[in-house]
Amino acid sequence: MSLLKRLLPAAAGPCRRNMSDIRTVTLIPGDGIGPEIAVAVQKIFAAAEVPIAWEPVDVAPIRNADGTMGIPQAAIDSVNRNKIGLKSPLMTPIGKGFRSLNLQLRKEFNLYANVRPCKSIEGFKTLYDDVDVVTIRENTEGEYSGIEHEIVDGVVQSIKLITENASRRVAEYAFEYAKNNGRSKVTAVHKANIMRMSDGLFLRCCREAAEKYPEIRFEEKYLDTVCLNMVQDPSMYDVLVMPNLYGDILSDLCAGLIGGLGLTPSGNIGTDGAIFEAVHGTAPDIAGQDKANPTALLLSSVMMLRYMQLPEYANKIEAAAFQVIKEGKVITGDLGGRGKCSEFTDEIIKKIESM
Ligand code: IPM
Ligand code: MG
Repeated sequence: MSLLKRLLPAAAGPCRRNMSDIRTVTLIPGDGIGPEIAVAVQKIFAAAEVPIAWEPVDVAPIRNADGTMGIPQAAIDSVNRNKIGLKSPLMTPIGKGFRSLNLQLRKEFNLYANVRPCKSIEGFKTLYDDVDVVTIRENTEGEYSGIEHEIVDGVVQSIKLITENASRRVAEYAFEYAKNNGRSKVTAVHKANIMRMSDGLFLRCCREAAEKYPEIRFEEKYLDTVCLNMVQDPSMYDVLVMPNLYGDILSDLCAGLIGGLGLTPSGNIGTDGAIFEAVHGTAPDIAGQDKANPTALLLSSVMMLRYMQLPEYANKIEAAAFQVIKEGKVITGDLGGRGKCSEFTDEIIKKIESM
């Protein structure tokens, strides 16, 4: 498709926009299968004539003056300028090397709320048909604060940092999200019976936020109870808000209920910008083979479009993707099909073009 056609969408209807409406989005193509699934999203956006321009950046870590490894300045500048990013998976070293870039990005841009909706996908059968939950995870502190040290040989201490400020803003975000998305209940997930001070503070902030939103039901549940309930009857839950590590674990559990990380979107929201990302791994074993499933990144980009107030494009792309999955004719291997990433992408494009 010509660049002009991309930039100047159809002349009539809700898609009509001026050149000046085109917004730039930072694109982090990532590692492993990252670049392939990023291309899939770019192709689909072009077909849907989404009024955005991509600014790809390399986030491969560079050595800072103090010897630590960090995100290149050009990438930081790009996100700061555009205030919006889409990110494919990045490799995280285990137990050594540089600190996870995924976390550095969240910290760098103060992306304090991590939002992961998990909704049953029609046509992709799992044990449950009625999952519709959203985990909202505190994204900047807790066990992820990275404060660890060896006290004496064989004794290591790791600090779980909980602050009133971060707890309050994520709690308020959860209620605001519930209100704006027609949700009726927020559950605060905690272990304040054991971590009485840290989770106790988090819980107090949730209670205080709840008071400001009387129209949204509020409940408090222990993390272990939520895990038990969630795998027995996920319909018990709606929006859930929790400290960082609990959210990491529980969001994977919820993703498992609907088919896995290949199907679930994620958004990291800050006060002044947001980065949307696929949270599955880089799958180096299938990288470069046109086998990867781009759905998680695509649905993350759909969340991004809604965040950017472009719901008409979001709805179109989402409907096309769900239709292709439901039909099941051209789907990738992880979904039980034999389609290549590029074939699945083209099938979604065909649906968009026929809408
Ligand atoms: C996630 C991931 C990350 C995390 C990893 C890749 C650092 O599991 O986004 O859930 O632990 O937060
Ligand atoms: Mg995780």
